[in-house]
Amino acid sequence: MDRLAIIGGRPLYGDIPISGAKNSAIKVMVATLLSEEKVSLSNVPDLADVRQLMRLLENHGTIAERDGNRLSLHTPKITSRVAPYDIVRKMRASFNVLGPLLAREEEAKVSLPGGCAIGARPVDLHLKALEALGAKIELDEGYVIASAKGGLKGAEISFPFVSVGATEHTMLAAVLAQGKTVLQNAAREPEIADLADCLNAMGAKIKGAGRSTIEIDGVTSLGSVAHSVLPDRIETGAYAMAVGIAGGEVILTNARTELLGAALSSLRETGLEIEDSERGLRVKKNGKKLQAVDIVTQPFPGFPTDLQALFMAMMTTAEGTSSIKETIFENRYMHAPELARMGADIHIDGQLATVRGKDRLKGAPVMATDLRASMSLVIAGLGAEGQTMVSRLYHLDRGFENLASKLQNVGALVERVPETD
Ligand code: UD1
Repeated sequence: MDRLAIIGGRPLYGDIPISGAKNSAIKVMVATLLSEEKVSLSNVPDLADVRQLMRLLENHGTIAERDGNRLSLHTPKITSRVAPYDIVRKMRASFNVLGPLLAREEEAKVSLPGGCAIGARPVDLHLKALEALGAKIELDEGYVIASAKGGLKGAEISFPFVSVGATEHTMLAAVLAQGKTVLQNAAREPEIADLADCLNAMGAKIKGAGRSTIEIDGVTSLGSVAHSVLPDRIETGAYAMAVGIAGGEVILTNARTELLGAALSSLRETGLEIEDSERGLRVKKNGKKLQAVDIVTQPFPGFPTDLQALFMAMMTTAEGTSSIKETIFENRYMHAPELARMGADIHIDGQLATVRGKDRLKGAPVMATDLRASMSLVIAGLGAEGQTMVSRLYHLDRGFENLASKLQNVGALVERVPETD
């Protein structure tokens, strides 16, 4: 298991290419299970989560071929209706194969994804929505056993609260259902519109994705498509904040401001300059200290929970006191004690974190706890004095493509080193 050694204090200058969005790529990959024809995806990041999902799809009969950032997936026949625990437990989003298997095969057995470091993360909304579409669902020994003899049927479904996964999963199940499905209080994340664009290009009839009411007219089959995955807004925000903490001026190629939602104004309020340019997003720190800004995490277009840890890292050296409220996940402050090891002044009280800005953090050995939290330690290290050693790099490999080389190319002193103990 590698670690990442970072020597802080070097400003960043140059270009960082933004990869395709992990959270979109893995959903469109699952969507390909709905078609007997070959689907070609481009701008697919080469990440552990993507490789993991390829393994799962192959288990269901998909012929998968990768060529750089292109991925071709072809499932002429579903060869297994079972998604085993060993694969599903490693990546929660793989639970979403349940809907497509059910839609295409009328039965499926999929392992429950289990808990996760950032909170309980149940799948009750997913299961209720599938039941509303006519599926019979039983739970047995950690597996969901589902059947829909005669096919799924369109329904009106109103989600009690916003869930990205449940919105996407229900969409995946409803495209091949008989009749019309209407989703109320749907999530509006850009990845949902990307998934709908891909499905519509395959022949689905989805209207309103990206808004809170989505209408889906069921079709009998889906065809082939070539789809390019949208740029990763979380990776975009992460590198923008790396500039915020380390200083410098960087172009995030392929990135777009409109994907950032409320994160854009919060980042600008700190004093970071962020503009669209011909080649992508230009991010500049003007030499002055960043200002403390308060944030509350919300579903899109609100401030994304996936950038909360990174924003907190940036606030540890801002001018003033920042209050951060996490409303999406109940246990998403695990990076705070690690940042404190670097000298950060953070006080946690339930959902609320208060961060008092310091002059500078000091490098320290720190441990990554989940994907986004790990990146907050990396960017904290880029601004800190001395060396920061981030262990448990496998978390970062799940979600940040070519992290070390992207940072090295803009002048950061970072290096992967083999774990010694
Ligand atoms: C997705 C993203 C994740 C992001 C999150 C919120 C992927 C692969 N992951 O996760 O990076 O942090 O959206 O933007 O796209 N909940 C329930 N019951 C359910 C479903 C969800 O109680 O059936 C709860 C969750 O525990 C959480 C909240 O709803 O507290 C939001 O979760 P959700 O939007 O579903 O997140 P994911 O789709 O898991």
